[in-house]
Parts: sequence; structure tokens; C-alpha cells
Amino acid sequence: MKKVHKLIKIAIIAGARPNFIKIAPLIKELSKVKQFSVKLIHTGQHYDPVMSDIFFKELNIKKPAINILSGSGSHAVQTAKIMQGLEQVFIKLKPSVVIVVGDVNSTLSAAIVTSKLHIPLAHVEAGLRSGDMKMPEEVNRIVTDRLSEYLFIPSEDAYENLNNEGIERSKIFFAGNIMIDTLINNLKKIEKYKVLKKYKLTKNNYCLVTLHRPSNVDNKKMFIKISKTIRAISETVKIFFPVHPRTMINIEKFGINKILNSPDILLTKPIGYRETIALVAGSKMVITDSGGLQEESTYLRKPCLTIRPNTERPVTVTIGTNTVVGDNMKLLLNLVKDIMNNKYKAGNRPKYWDGRTSERIRKTLVKELLSKNNI
Ligand code: UD1
Repeated sequence: MKKVHKLIKIAIIAGARPNFIKIAPLIKELSKVKQFSVKLIHTGQHYDPVMSDIFFKELNIKKPAINILSGSGSHAVQTAKIMQGLEQVFIKLKPSVVIVVGDVNSTLSAAIVTSKLHIPLAHVEAGLRSGDMKMPEEVNRIVTDRLSEYLFIPSEDAYENLNNEGIERSKIFFAGNIMIDTLINNLKKIEKYKVLKKYKLTKNNYCLVTLHRPSNVDNKKMFIKISKTIRAISETVKIFFPVHPRTMINIEKFGINKILNSPDILLTKPIGYRETIALVAGSKMVITDSGGLQEESTYLRKPCLTIRPNTERPVTVTIGTNTVVGDNMKLLLNLVKDIMNNKYKAGNRPKYWDGRTSERIRKTLVKELLSKNNI
């Protein structure tokens, strides 16, 4: 007689650009388990085609089963809308486990709803801490980890962070960095030189800039100071700057167009995943405030200068190619000089940034959800 398998319903939640990069290998890997029924739920936090659809297409992610269509809003409004939407979905769907990734508002909202419905929660990219409670993401990380049953950490420093917050070791699984799974899966598909040609850039002869943190781009004084420094750097090396919607609003509002108006600075709309990776791989250096780019540049061994007072990804500094410059523009200019003179550190790759993180997560979930319950 054919054995009938009991299905474990897994709901995976994604809402913003960095989430899509993290769920792509996870969905693929978990769908290999015949006892798992995997449903993707999009919260709608990011909705513009260049912020959402393009990632689904490029990364071959199946269409979400449901989209909550939350849209933008203040933190409270956005979080509340996502919570309201997800509560309805979970009551109907009755997932056996909910998986959230990263640290965006969608992650937090899903964590709270899941926990209050007494559904086990798994957090991929758990345990990262910047120590900066003014960052909305830090609040999201702390709450999500506190509510999680399964915490998949990307690097070993997370053990200590979680231990300091009293989280039991038995809930923590060192799985590695899932962003790197996607990076490795896509590296072969990247036609670097075509992208460089498209933007008239030459290999190792331009700097990729991205900025979107509220502390950098919502603060007029800070954004002007950074923009003047970028303008100064453009006299040495060409700048390629794809602009996040939040950043574009403020470029216009603060009259920053004038500062960045130079033939050596190319501003574009947000770009997709493959172009971003190809542009990191082809660059001389990256200047950013993004979490993901700190990691991707470390993997690709490209110098990265981070305009933030801290990082929740310290291995990119201690092992990788990253330096956190804070708001010290003099330091930034000096490091750019070092990089141009090939005097900057080379960096290494942290442990388990090897393309097998989603496989390790699958194995753990099979053990925890199936083997331990004799399914
Ligand atoms: C969010 C995350 C941040 C992540 C970033 C990646 C939180 C708290 N922040 O920041 O951690 O690094 O995504 O991009 O979750 N907008 C559009 N189109 C869109 C989405 C947003 O125009 O598709 C505009 C809206 O004006 C919106 C603003 O961008 O108000 C900010 O969007 P929001 O999702 O609130 O935060 P991000 O800055 O994108």
C-alpha cells in the first residue's frame, strides 16, 4: 500500500527587496522535501516593479500564493497593516511553521502575528546585532529573535549576541549566510561585461555607491556632507549610483541634484539583482550603507566602505573587505586613496559562506519537524 505522508505546511514571508534574495534558495531547497508544503506570502512592503517583480523574475521565484499589498507608510502603519493581513492568512492557512528572513518591518510583523497564534517561528539570519537601537532594523531583529523557536545564524558572532539576550543554545543553528547561496547560484549567469558596456563603465575603474538608510538620506546635513564627498571622489574614480526611491525623494527635496551633477557621476533608477552583483564584481570599490552589499563585496573580495556608525555584520570587517567609516568623510577619502593605490586589505570569506546554507536549513528542519515527530 502507498504510504500517505502527513504534510507540514510551511509559510515563508517576504516583503522587501533583500528578503527576495534570501527566500529564493530557501523555497527551492525546502520544496525538495515531499512532506513539506511550501507557501510564499508577499507582504507588499515593496511593490514597484524594480523593487519587487524584477527579483522574482531574475531569481526564478514562484509567484506568491498571497500578497497582502500593505504598501508604504510610517513604521506603525506599515507594521500594523502587515499584521492585520497576515493574521487573516494564518488563521485560514494554519501553517505548521512560519519562516521569516532578515530584519525588515515585514519580518517583525510576521514574527508577532505568528507568535500570538502559537505557531512555531523560524528566523533566517538571526542573531545579528548593531547595538544601535535607533536603527529600525535592530528593533526588528531583537523582537524577532526573542519570538523564534529556530534561529538560523549566518556567522558565529551571533551565538554571543543571542546568549547575551538569554536565548537557549538549543534553538540556535549555525547555517551560514543565505545571501551567498543566491550569489553563488547567479555568479555564472552574470554577463559582467555587457552590464559594464550598458553603463559605459570600465572594469576596476568605477565606484559603486548605494545609500538608503534614513540616518544618511533623511538627514539633510548628513546627506549633503556625503554627497559633497562623493563629488570629490568622482574626480579620482567614476561613480555609478543606482538610487533607492527614498533617496530619490530626498535628492530632490534637499536640492542635492546640483552637488551630484557631474559627467563622472551616473545616477540611475534602482537596478535588479544580477546587474547589482555584476557591478560589484566589476568595480574598484563599493561605498554603501546596505547590509547585503557589505556581505556581497566581502564574498567577491571587493573593497567596501560603509557609511554607518556601526555594522550588525562585523565579520565583513574582521574577516572581509569592509571598513565602517561612520560619518568621518576624511577617513573615507583616505581609504579611497589607499584602494586606488592598491594598498587596501584583501580580505577572506567567513565560514559557511559557501552556497550550502539553504541545504543546512533544510536538513535541520527535516530533523526538527519530521524526524523528532516520527513523520
Ligand atoms: C526597507 C527596510 C530596510 C532595507 C530596505 C531595502 C524596514 C524598516 N526597512 O527600507 O531595512 O534595507 O527596505 O530596500 O523595513 N518606496 C517606493 N517603492 C517601493 C517601496 C518603497 O517608492 O516599492 C518608497 C516609499 O516612498 C516609501 C520609501 O520608499 O515610503 C521607504 O520604503 P520602506 O519599505 O518603508 O523602507 P526602505 O527605506 O525601503
